[in-house]
Amino acid sequence: MSQATNQSWGGRFSEPTDAFVERFTASVNFDQRLARQDIQGSIAHATMLARVGVLTDDERDAIINGLSEIKGEIERGEFEWSVPLEDVHMNIEARLTDKIGITGKKLHTGRSRNDQVATDIRLFMRDAIDVIEAELVRLREGMTELADREADTIMPGFTHLQTAQPVTFGHHLLAWQEMIARDHERLLDCRKRINVMPLGAAALAGTTYPIDRHVTAELLGFERPAENSLDAVSDRDFAIEFTSFASILLMHLSRMSEELVLWTSAQFDFIDLPDRFCTGSSIMPQKKNPDVPELVRGKTGRVYGHLMSLLTLMKSQPLAYNKDNQEDKEPLFDAVDTVHDCLKAFADMVPAIEPKKANMFEAARKGFSTATDLADYLVRKGVAFRDAHEIVGQSVAYGLKAEKDLSEMTLDELKQFSATIEQDVFEVLTLEGSVAARNHIGGTAPDQVRAAAQRAREALAAVKGEAQ
Ligand code: ARG
Repeated sequence: MSQATNQSWGGRFSEPTDAFVERFTASVNFDQRLARQDIQGSIAHATMLARVGVLTDDERDAIINGLSEIKGEIERGEFEWSVPLEDVHMNIEARLTDKIGITGKKLHTGRSRNDQVATDIRLFMRDAIDVIEAELVRLREGMTELADREADTIMPGFTHLQTAQPVTFGHHLLAWQEMIARDHERLLDCRKRINVMPLGAAALAGTTYPIDRHVTAELLGFERPAENSLDAVSDRDFAIEFTSFASILLMHLSRMSEELVLWTSAQFDFIDLPDRFCTGSSIMPQKKNPDVPELVRGKTGRVYGHLMSLLTLMKSQPLAYNKDNQEDKEPLFDAVDTVHDCLKAFADMVPAIEPKKANMFEAARKGFSTATDLADYLVRKGVAFRDAHEIVGQSVAYGLKAEKDLSEMTLDELKQFSATIEQDVFEVLTLEGSVAARNHIGGTAPDQVRAAAQRAREALAAVKGEAQ
């Protein structure tokens, strides 16, 4: 064997790897992010090997102590990562052997990098999901509390971005909360399937050593060992599930961002975002730009891209492990970071939204937003809905010419269009009357918004209870 071949698998090779190929195939520059989980997995593996008698207790202790020291070196930034050692797994194993000698070479007994890396990523994703979930919970709480505070605040509701009917700002915020609540469910559902342990699958077929996978699974907090060794080392569907969750979440955050951008514009002027979430322009001194929501909207694209990368990465791979799988990490890591940062930005920003209530109210007042209420009023007086629709349409046309909203017309003006209209019409033409009348579960009435906020709090408390 040539001395210059790779120390981990160089046995059957007669010449060293081409220098470019070495760099091309190495993953250590990005998979060193898995170091903590790699050490955690190795400690559990060594513990299990000693328990079944494959390692002695002394060998196990030497391995665990060595790995713990290496963990410290990495955390302190002292560890020297080497590209010729290819990846995080072989870097750590080589360092272990430097430190404790021949025993270090026994760690890899009954294991392959294939089940090792699959385990590392699942551990990493489990940790990442827990951190992400905490931000998501904070965002749900922020939305719910703001909604409760703004249960009486009236704004225009839109369809086609045209003023449609008055709604309460609290109701709008609870619509956002519902979207994020479903994303939360998707995240927890994804976590269940992530929390299954590949370790023990070895390269693809399992191992001849008398391993006990239940022990390792328990040590690592996995729900159970994966059923099938071929599947365990090869599939990355859990990564695709996470990026699907991430894509849907970012789609939601992007829609909310778009609304925040619109609402802070001079044309809408519905809200103020505190200065700390905005930046200025280097040329236009008057500008205050909603950069944070704009950037979240922009980052949605890269997360969709990662989903597409991972789907494409997997689509033609035969069983079992293929080197293609090394390409799962960068998209996944970036999706994790992007989701985390966008959620943090939103969780910080949403409670700080300052509604400009008078402007919202005025906008709702201007757009004939109680036209449907007038039609419903006529129906209650015995007019057929289609006829009522026509009558209100004529009233609106008149209002446009006379530059008067429905509630600003006199009774005589309204009576031109239907003799059935009486003095009591003005109760339904006010914005307060309009929202209060939608008084059923899921409706925009302030009392319903307060009740819905309470249910949202309880639903969140129940999910948090489950996770513990
Ligand atoms: N760096 C590799 C990866 O990320 C580890 C597994 C390598 N296995 C192998 N048989 N080459 O997938």
